[in-house]
Amino acid sequence: MSANTFTSSGPLRGHIRVPGDKSISHRALMFSSLAIGESIIEGLLEGEDVLATAAAMRQLGAEIERGNDGIWRVHGAGLGSLLEPKQALDMGNSGTSTRLLMGLLASHGFTATFTGDASLSGRPMNRVIEPLSQMGASIEASADGTLPLMMRGALPAVPITYRLPVASAQVKSAVLLAGLNTPGITSVIEPVATRDHTERMLKGFGATLEIGDHDGERLISIHGDAVLEPQQVIVPGDPSSAAFFIVAALIVPDSDLVIENVGMNDTRAGIVHALRQMGGNIEGMNLREVGGEPVADLRVTHSALKGAEIEPALAPSMIDEFPVLFVAAALAEGTTKTSGLEELRVKESDRLATMASALKLAGAKVEEHEDGLTIEGTGGEPLRGTPDGAQVQTLLDHRISMSMAVAGLASRNGVTIDDTAPIATSFPNFTELMGQIIE
Ligand code: S3P
Repeated sequence: MSANTFTSSGPLRGHIRVPGDKSISHRALMFSSLAIGESIIEGLLEGEDVLATAAAMRQLGAEIERGNDGIWRVHGAGLGSLLEPKQALDMGNSGTSTRLLMGLLASHGFTATFTGDASLSGRPMNRVIEPLSQMGASIEASADGTLPLMMRGALPAVPITYRLPVASAQVKSAVLLAGLNTPGITSVIEPVATRDHTERMLKGFGATLEIGDHDGERLISIHGDAVLEPQQVIVPGDPSSAAFFIVAALIVPDSDLVIENVGMNDTRAGIVHALRQMGGNIEGMNLREVGGEPVADLRVTHSALKGAEIEPALAPSMIDEFPVLFVAAALAEGTTKTSGLEELRVKESDRLATMASALKLAGAKVEEHEDGLTIEGTGGEPLRGTPDGAQVQTLLDHRISMSMAVAGLASRNGVTIDDTAPIATSFPNFTELMGQIIE
């Protein structure tokens, strides 16, 4: 464990870029591994979660190399031609790697074992086990539907139409990826839209995928026995990583920061809407399209934030950004209420409980409910910070570490975090970048 203290600082100023989008990076490696021929990936996130996906795809037969120019080259094995892994697939901390790969392997006729760290081994896998079993895969998981688990894929698998019981892009993607190597048409009905990177990128790789309407809900259908063509993928900056710097610039006086090349896909950009609703000054500049995804440069200046009631409907488009939104709320004037956030309890940690404890330890007024937090902000006054000798417990959750690091920048005594090592799962240069722009 590596403890670290983040203290009140000067303003954040200058221009930065955050690393590549984690969701898009996982998909770029997986889909390239299914295409026959060489795909090129620029801007790949080189965080531990994505490296776990790269290692797994190598075990499944893809050739994956990083050039000295930072460009990744992938020689795909071809859909249906993946190899049985000789060892367990170690998914580390990464739920996305696990659930998407389970989907992919559900329609390949071999056995694979999935393992992960303590955080991942506590996360629910029944949400993917259920539809993938309907498609014919045999899955034996630990008692409460968690890792480690062993899966024998079905060949051929059976196409299904599956209505998502939880708003989850990972479950949606798992079923669609299983459908890629399944004869016929596999469909997912999505009552609430979740991030659509899988749909966009699969189309880019040449899969036949249709998006329609089913009784007012989104219907996504993938045609099986697909042949994917190699592509050049350009990965935009991760809005979930940008969010930490957006909130830091909003709450630290005199900040004026430009974050370049941030993915602005509507299914991901909810945090920008929520922070604007709270009075945050975030200007989108130079809106453009990069690699099939909308991208903008964001100029963020220090703002007098006001508490707000955050619409539960926004949740899927900012599901990973609530920890840092709670930090913004703790510095705002008045009360911020959130609800409809049960899913936060099954992320890398129980993010409602972990953030409630962390913020209280740093002196914020927080009430925890079953499905959200209510936070009474300071009105811009710095938080007290963690008491001498006390440390925020981050429970192997990168986003708790980074959120509380941001809180530390707006605190009198600083915020000490028990373990900043998990930050490397999604944002390896977070602390370094923070150091570069603080005046
Ligand atoms: C992700 C989907 C989300 C998100 C995760 C990445 C993805 O999870 O929390 O960090 O890349 O599909 P859920 O689908 O479980 O909500």
